Amino acid sequence: MKVTLKIWRQSDKNSKGQFVEYPMEDVDKDMSLFELLDTLNERLVLKGERPIVYDSDCREGICGQCGIMINGEAHGPLMNTSACHLHMRSFNDGERLTIEPFRSAAFPVRQDLSIDRSAMDRIIQAGGYVSVDTGQASDANQERISHHAYDEAMNAAACIGCGACIAACPNASAALFTGAKISHLHRLPQGQIESDDRVINMVTTMDDEGFGNCSNHATCEAVCPAGISIKVIADMNKLYLKQIGKG
Ligand code: SF4
Ligand code: FES
Repeated sequence: MKVTLKIWRQSDKNSKGQFVEYPMEDVDKDMSLFELLDTLNERLVLKGERPIVYDSDCREGICGQCGIMINGEAHGPLMNTSACHLHMRSFNDGERLTIEPFRSAAFPVRQDLSIDRSAMDRIIQAGGYVSVDTGQASDANQERISHHAYDEAMNAAACIGCGACIAACPNASAALFTGAKISHLHRLPQGQIESDDRVINMVTTMDDEGFGNCSNHATCEAVCPAGISIKVIADMNKLYLKQIGKG
């Protein structure tokens, strides 16, 4: 198949960027989009041109590094799928793919498709630590946890920290990400000891970092590769309002 890659090129965070088109022929429909980007980079290097900078690490939907906009959609056209899991068979022969970095004031572009996601790290850092000792393997069975609580915690823990929810939200809100990080600890008894401080510190940091407020558009849930439910935002809001005496 043939496709045209229309890619955002920006040499550093202070430069003005622009789209550049790269026609690609003989594309194997079973190769991944990132393998196609690798192929393009090999060609650029052979021609003595600067390769395209993009983030990816695991290429297995785990690390959250590969977030890019594809044809205006965070992580591209497939639901619950990270960009690194997209294959060329998901696109049409002759299609033009517009590929650009996630856009948010809290995500400065470092170069080309690579963004600085450290604002999300600072939200996690503000959450602090869990003081319960891990113990031995057998200790994991000493405390009874309801199946519902376990499911909710594990569902929230699936967040890979990619930032797609923020890029897709018209308010650039980090509520889904922050809610997931709060819920996955709060739902289990071990995470409840520091829960009060954690929710205040994480929500305050989220606001200080310049993320917008949630107004229930739910586009975050639609693009999330981990399928995180907006129920985690309700959890976060309930805990926060309780802490500030309004819940
Ligand atoms: S909630 Fe979903 S979209 Fe947001 S950072 Fe986590 S995995 Fe990515
Ligand atoms: S490269 Fe790790 S989730 Fe895509």
